Amino acid sequence: MEETPRIPAKRSFRFGNLEIAPNVFLSPMAGVGDLPFRRVLRALAGGRIGLTVSEFVSVEALRNSRTRELKGMRVGAEERPFCLQLFGGDPAKFAEGVRIASGLGFDALEINAGCPMPKMVRKGGGAQLLRDLPRLARLVAEARRACPLPLSLKVRVGWADGSALDECVRIACGEGLDLLVVHGRTREQGYAGRADWGAIARAKRLAAELRPETPVVGNGDVRTVEDAVARLEESGVDGVSSGRGAIHNPWLLAQIADVWEGKPARSPSLEEQRGLFDLYDRFLEEDGFTETGRLGRLKLVTARFLKALPGGAGARVDLLHAQTPGAYWDLLDSFFEERRKSGTAGFEPGGLEELNG
Ligand SMILES: Cc1cc2nc3c(=O)[nH]c(=O)nc-3n(C[C@H](O)[C@H](O)[C@H](O)COP(=O)(O)O)c2cc1C
Repeated sequence: MEETPRIPAKRSFRFGNLEIAPNVFLSPMAGVGDLPFRRVLRALAGGRIGLTVSEFVSVEALRNSRTRELKGMRVGAEERPFCLQLFGGDPAKFAEGVRIASGLGFDALEINAGCPMPKMVRKGGGAQLLRDLPRLARLVAEARRACPLPLSLKVRVGWADGSALDECVRIACGEGLDLLVVHGRTREQGYAGRADWGAIARAKRLAAELRPETPVVGNGDVRTVEDAVARLEESGVDGVSSGRGAIHNPWLLAQIADVWEGKPARSPSLEEQRGLFDLYDRFLEEDGFTETGRLGRLKLVTARFLKALPGGAGARVDLLHAQTPGAYWDLLDSFFEERRKSGTAGFEPGGLEELNG
């Protein structure tokens, strides 16, 4: 990092009774952001993450105690504050899920109104709620009545365009929610294209008019400390949330916390970069993953993380094709050995322009 980014004026906010400091979240990521991954990020950041959010858990799984799906609800001892994200489309069933989840020791709950997956949308939840705003309003109202904890709503800007967002703000504020999280893409965009931070800024302005006690967190394409500072300052949101940026650069949240404390953002040494893989593998093992299961997860992180490293592109292809854990670790060691010898220890994730997909 060339120079220390400036420090934004707003570095914390309140989410119900929770103090969110720093005002940066790790976004929920099904299939990636499970307990071992979140433990790695917390460890790298020395705990300094404003909030971590679970992968979505369906209210059906909660109501029917479907154990396999409920794995997504596990939370680490050090992982506070922690928000459980719930998925569902039926207001009464959702409220029942909220009542069950409220008694399980989470710090906050979140309603998922953004998941774009066809399989999930067909069930009436996630982004489907953006096409049926009266149902979203009923669901939010019932969830609010059932929830004694801080409650948040996470939305996209709309289904095919940004036309649902104003109404989502009205619903969140009208029902007295404690937080609105806006991912600045439509459902049709999926994860492609750029997030619309103009729309996020408008949502914040409307929420500030309607109910200043409902903070707004913006999400989409926050990949560097500079992105976090610029998005906070330009849009006026209370906080930002990063998903894929934190896979590309697992130190992102640590670096943001450094800067918020007035220190330069620290870049990981070559040893720390290599150590990341051992740490993740250890946490996966502690979580009961088999060796093969661990290899799959390691590859997911490798696919993104190695894009940030000099010479990473070539090694990435080989690592992703490794058939056995032994082959994977050998390739990884040779890659880092090569970098040590050639003196390319650098880690410049900020240089990446196109990280989507
Ligand atoms: C693999 C993956 C899984 C995701 N799972 C969820 C999820 O369970 N719940 C949710 O609200 N968003 C989910 N998202 C969306 C992210 O939370 C975030 O809104 C989106 O990736 C945009 O932020 P980014 O540009 O920082 O990645 C997921 C995204 C990815 C890439």
